[in-house]
Amino acid sequence: MTGELSPIDKAKFVAAKRAAQFVEDGMRVGLGTGSTAAWLVRCLGEMVRDDGLRIKGVPTSTRTAQLAREVGIEVISLDEAKWLDLTIDGADEFDGELNLIKGGGGALLQEKIVATASDQMVVIADIGKEVETLGAFPLPVEVIPFGWQTTQALVEETLVSMDVLGRNSTLRMNGEIPFVTDEGNYILDLHLKRIGNARQMALVMNQMPGVVENGLFIDICDAVVIGYGDGRVEVRDINEGTVDRDKMEFVETDNLFSDLSD
Ligand code: A5P
Repeated sequence: MTGELSPIDKAKFVAAKRAAQFVEDGMRVGLGTGSTAAWLVRCLGEMVRDDGLRIKGVPTSTRTAQLAREVGIEVISLDEAKWLDLTIDGADEFDGELNLIKGGGGALLQEKIVATASDQMVVIADIGKEVETLGAFPLPVEVIPFGWQTTQALVEETLVSMDVLGRNSTLRMNGEIPFVTDEGNYILDLHLKRIGNARQMALVMNQMPGVVENGLFIDICDAVVIGYGDGRVEVRDINEGTVDRDKMEFVETDNLFSDLSD
C-alpha cells in the first residue's frame, strides 16, 4: 500500500515516524496540524493501541483533535495540561536557525500557543521545506474580522519600511467566503518573497491593532526531523548542535495507510 504514497508523502511519513520516537510514556504532547502532523498522530495512535503508550495529547486545531480521538489518543485541553513536555508539528518553511513560517493550514495561533507552552518543540518536515531565507512561502497573519481591510492597509503600509522583496497581501479564502480560523478570525497571506529580518518582522506585525498573531516562529523550535522520499531521516538539534542520520523502514499497516485524507 505504501507504493501509492508519493515521495513527498513518504518523506513526511518517515519524519513523523522518527519524531514519534521522542514521545515517552506519561508525556503531555502538543499535537500539530497539517498533513505531516497527521502522520504523527496516526503513528502515536498506533503506539497507544499496540504498545500501550500512555500519553495525553493537546491538539492545535479541531481537525487534529478529531483525528487524535479517532486513533485512540486521550485528548485534553491546554488549560488542563497547563504545560507540555513536547510539541511535534509541521512547518511551511524552516531556516538554518530553525526559525519557521507556519500557518499554511490556518492553525498558527493555537500552534504558537501550544509550542510556546512546551519544554521542547520538534518540527517534522520533508526536505523541500528547508530554505536559506524565510519568505518564499506567504507569511500568514491572523487578524480580527472587525475592520480587517483597515488592518490590511496598515500591514501593507508598514511593509514599506521592512526588509522584504514583496509587499502585497491577500485575504485567505475558503471558496467564495473568507477562511475562518478556529478562533473565528481571518488570515492575511503576506507575499513577501524574502524576509530579510524575520525577528523584526515578527515583532512589528504583532504590534499592530487588529493583528492577533503571525506565522513566524522565532527561537521556538528546538529540533527538526527532516524526511526524504527514500526513507532517510535527519535529526538536527539546534541546542545540542548535533545532526543524526537514520533510515526508516516503511512498515505497511492498514491502520496507518488506509486513510490518506489530510
Ligand atoms: C498549519 O497551520 C501549519 O502550520 C502546518 O503545520 C504547516 O502548514 C505544514 O503543513 P503540512 O505538513 O501539511 O505541509
